[in-house]
Order: sequence, then structure tokens, then C-alpha cells
Amino acid sequence: MLEHSDVVLMEKLVSLCKRRGFVFQSSEIYGGIGNTYDYGPLGVELLRRIKDFWWARMVTTRDDIVGLDSAIIQNPKVWETSGHVAGFTDPMVDCKKCKARFRADKLSDARCPERPSKRPGECGGELTEPRAFNLMFKTTVGAVESTGSVVYLRPETAQGIFLNFLNVLTSSRLKPPFGIAQIGKSFRNEITPGNFVFRTREFEQMEMEFFVPPAQNDQWFAYWRKERFQWYLDLGLDPNKLRLRDHDQTELAHYSTGTTDIEYLYPFGWGELEGVACRTDFDLKRHSAASGTELVYFEPETKERYTPYVIEPAAGVNRIAMTMLLDAYFEEQVDGETRVSLRLHPALAPITVGVFPLVKKEGMPEKAREIESELRRGNMSTFYDEKAAIGRRYRRQDEVGTPYCVTVDGETVKNDVVTVRHRDSMLQDKVPVRELRGFLAQNMANWKR
Ligand code: GAP
Repeated sequence: MLEHSDVVLMEKLVSLCKRRGFVFQSSEIYGGIGNTYDYGPLGVELLRRIKDFWWARMVTTRDDIVGLDSAIIQNPKVWETSGHVAGFTDPMVDCKKCKARFRADKLSDARCPERPSKRPGECGGELTEPRAFNLMFKTTVGAVESTGSVVYLRPETAQGIFLNFLNVLTSSRLKPPFGIAQIGKSFRNEITPGNFVFRTREFEQMEMEFFVPPAQNDQWFAYWRKERFQWYLDLGLDPNKLRLRDHDQTELAHYSTGTTDIEYLYPFGWGELEGVACRTDFDLKRHSAASGTELVYFEPETKERYTPYVIEPAAGVNRIAMTMLLDAYFEEQVDGETRVSLRLHPALAPITVGVFPLVKKEGMPEKAREIESELRRGNMSTFYDEKAAIGRRYRRQDEVGTPYCVTVDGETVKNDVVTVRHRDSMLQDKVPVRELRGFLAQNMANWKR
């Protein structure tokens, strides 16, 4: 059962996200559509920064991983071969009374829609036996809707990587061990979605398939478990709320011989943030057999031809964004008022610097505008605000996670010195304008949770 404080935290976060432009209910003016969300000006910046952080770590700073952007709609044979048409299912039960549908393996988390204080079946309705329900969305291509033109929206980005294995191998002259990374939207017809953006029908994934000689499988699996866990620590997540959990045999996906989840302790319990899976040669072999194109690696030195094994770290951008927001949410009493701050890693904060003239006169707004454009030119996102008392302006930025606020006052106009106020400590520093960019950059680099 959820603690009251956990329910309150989720409610507070959902409300903050809407009020300040992180996340909106999708199609809201038409009453919304089940668990589909839109990201507002601040939300879209947060998502973009998470993706940049991942791409920098997984691709830009490495010489053994390259990027890819494959199509969402692929030849339907892809999904027959990958096993998704037959096996990408959840066991579902229906309530014969209220007709609601629930995941049979998540009944203890679900509530009856008619009587939310009750669990499924407790409303007096009998539950059907579990039935397999495929999670892929179907659509059609071409002008005529016929069975011949049925296609699927991809439920994972991974298959696009397997299909391009040879293209990338020959065009980039890599050799195993090497990886292909991709960020993009995936779609699943989740039947009991919930918990805000934790599980939605449309979401973005960041996946990387790492192709290794089969004998190196275990060593690379250990490497990627450790490396991916460290990435979350480097983002500043609370280490006490992070853990690695190995799947037991019954949980494994149809393509996996071993999977470890990186889990976070959400207000509703431990939940998966990312999975690191051993996919072996399952996908490359299946696609080779079905397409007639041999997806293998030929080692010129040893003249050996083999199908690489695959280690796959697969994460969800939206789920990470929600996790970052929950983890960063902080309340404290200051001067008899509740101060809310999002203690996000400065590299993830949608706004890096708030720029404020102390008052709207004596040349301060002009000077503040000048400093703001200088920071923007240096690639820092800024927010200029001259409305309300300075304390209120600080609070507004605290609430959206802005790590620094720069105040322009009489001393700035006279001596070119600004006040930098820090979000987490609320301490202030006097900094010469000419050193401001360097000061902020260094502070960001040294930030610790
Ligand atoms: N290619 C492997 C794969 O897709 P997954 O565990 O099903 O593995 C990887 O998905 C990650 O994608 C999850 O850890 C989660 O972060 C995210 N994810 C999966 N389904 C999601 C959904 N319905 N809504 C939001 N994120 C989801």
C-alpha cells in the first residue's frame, strides 16, 4: 500500500509539471487520451538534455560505438522474425462485471475503475482466465486498407539496429566488440498504464546493441551493468534509491538469456529504469535465416566467420525524466515559508541561469539584458525576469531547478560585478562580469548531489 506522503509527492510533482510547463495531458481540450502526454517548454529541454548526456557518454566520447536513426515503420516480416508478433504479449484478464481489462501479473497494483478503493475482482465481478494480448500497434500503409498492407509501429528501437548491422559494419569498418546506438520513439499498447509518465503508450527509448565475440559475452555483460549503473550516479540520482536486480527465468524476454534491471525506488515501489540484456545471437541469426542475408562478421586475420553475441542496455527517456524530477524534488522551510526546489544536475536543468535586474531602473535592465545575451551566446540557457520581488524570482527558478541566478544591481552598473545566487545552498557570490561564464561553467562541472 502506498504511504500518504508518497501519494502526495506524486500529486505535487504532477501539479508542478503542469503549472510550470514540463508535462501536459495530451489532447487535454478534448478530455485527453489514456496515458498520453505532451512535453512543454521546460519538459522538452529536460528530455533533450537527458538524451545529450546519454549520447555523449555512449557515442561521442567513445571510439567503439556509432549512431543510427532507423525507421519507425519497417517491413512487417521484421516483427514476425524477431518473435514480437507471437511473443510480445502481456497476460490479461477482464472483469465480467465492469468490463475493465487488467494485467494478470500486476493485479495487486491495479484498482477497479468503478470502485477505486477495491482491487480487480473485488467489485463483485468475476475475472476471466488470463489471455495473451499483443502489445504492438497495427496500422496500414498505402491507399487501400487491406490485410496485405498491415504494418506495426515499432515496440523497440533495437530491431532497426539489427537490420542495419551489415550496413554499419561495412560503411564504418568497425569490428566486434563494437556498438550501434539509437534514440527514438517506440509504441506499445499498454493496457494498464499509470503512474504519470512511467508507463505510456508512446515513449522514447535510448538503446545500444553491443556486438561482441561470443567468448567475450560475460565480460561485456559485467562491463555494461557497471557502466550503466554509474551513469545514473553521475546524473546525481540518490544511490540509496538505485539497485541492480537480476531477472529470474520466468521474467526473461523471449530473446534474452540473462537480464539485469537498473531499478529506482519510486513512491510506488521499486521499478525498472533500464534493462541490460544478453540477447546472444538470437536476433542476428533469426534475421539471417528469414531474410537470406547472412548477418555475420568475417575476421580477415583468422578467416573466422561468426555471428556476434549482443549485450543491450535499453533505457526510457521519459521514465528517466520522471525519475530525475522525483529524485530532485525538495521541500524545506525558509523564513516561515515552504521553499520547493528541484535539485537537478545543472547539466540537466532546463534553464541554467536566471538573470534579474534588482530594480527596473538606473540602467539595470539594460545591463542585465546585455549579460543575458552574452550567456546565451556562450550556449547557456537563460531566463530574464524583472517582475516581482527578488526573493520571489529566486523561488520561481528554484521550483524549476535553475541552478544559478545572476542579479544585476547598482554595483554591476558601476563596477561590473554581479551577484550569483546558488539554488541548493542559497549562498551568494560576487563575481566580475568578465569571469561570469567561466565561474558558472566551473561550478557546473564541480556540482555534487
Ligand atoms: N529492446 C529492449 C527493450 O525494449 P524494455 O525493458 O521493454 O526493453 C527498455 O524497455 C526501457 O524502455 C525500459 O527500461 C523503460 O525505461 C522504457 N520503457 C519500456 N516500456 C515503456 C513504456 N510503456 N513507457 C515508458 N517507458 C517504457
